[in-house]
Amino acid sequence: MTAIIDGKAFSSNIRIRVADHVACLKDRHGLVPGLAVVLVGEDPASGVYVRNKGIQTREAGMASFEHKLPAETSQEVLLSLIGGLNADPAVHGILVQLPLPAHLDAEAVINAIAPEKDVDGFTIGNVGRLGTGQKAMVPCTPLGCVMMLRDRLGDLSGQNAVVVGRSNIVGKPMAQLLLAENCTVTVAHSRSRDLAAICRGADILVAAVGRPGMIRGDWIKPGATVIDVGINRIVEGGRSRLVGDVDFEAAVQVAGAITPVPGGVGPMTIACLLANTLTACCRISGLPDPAWPG
Ligand code: GUN
Repeated sequence: MTAIIDGKAFSSNIRIRVADHVACLKDRHGLVPGLAVVLVGEDPASGVYVRNKGIQTREAGMASFEHKLPAETSQEVLLSLIGGLNADPAVHGILVQLPLPAHLDAEAVINAIAPEKDVDGFTIGNVGRLGTGQKAMVPCTPLGCVMMLRDRLGDLSGQNAVVVGRSNIVGKPMAQLLLAENCTVTVAHSRSRDLAAICRGADILVAAVGRPGMIRGDWIKPGATVIDVGINRIVEGGRSRLVGDVDFEAAVQVAGAITPVPGGVGPMTIACLLANTLTACCRISGLPDPAWPG
């Protein structure tokens, strides 16, 4: 029987752990972790994400600071806001919602965030630390994927892991994390030759390409663990629904375990953002890192 990995339940477990730890920090140290989220412009999808982040941050007992700026905000104004958040002792995590309007230099904006407050793990400093095996802030989606894999499989040493997709946000950090778990890692992408054969060699297959149903059932090794990072909205018969990058109906017949879409990786991302904010608060305050499941 194929196991369906329940990201909703797992993420709820993490959020409970975060809330318990936050309550402890308040009691013992008078500390309240704070997350600042910066949204520039009116993108509706980004607006929904930011609202959900605020709600879940407050539910975990942390302070939430939302900065909504107009689409025409200048680079100087945005950099000055980030400078203020870097210096604010009530703020332990800073997230600038992407994408930014085209006139802004997203790379410069992200790299203006103090690395110890970079809860997305997107600054060059944290990317470098992750790549060289040093203590880093780790991007939330790959972190959630590794937590689920370790929870499911235990020690990942020696497993053949294939990551399909090479984005800075998911594919590349995912590959680094799997390497750090002693997997043999292959990163495949749209230009890879014979993607099907590469995928068939995977004990762990992570799909992060953003193409609905691209990974077919017969690309999956029997018994493999499949993590589907894709969240694609499709319209079928006049009805809209979310699907992953994996052809779930076919893959579920072959895989040993698989994450569904929705309800798999998606809910883990905000849970890991809360976990990262708590970790940042502990590190900034000279306290030990919290422990996470998996
Ligand atoms: N936009 C879509 N996903 C993300 C994310 O993980 N972090 C940020 N900052 N923006 C996003």
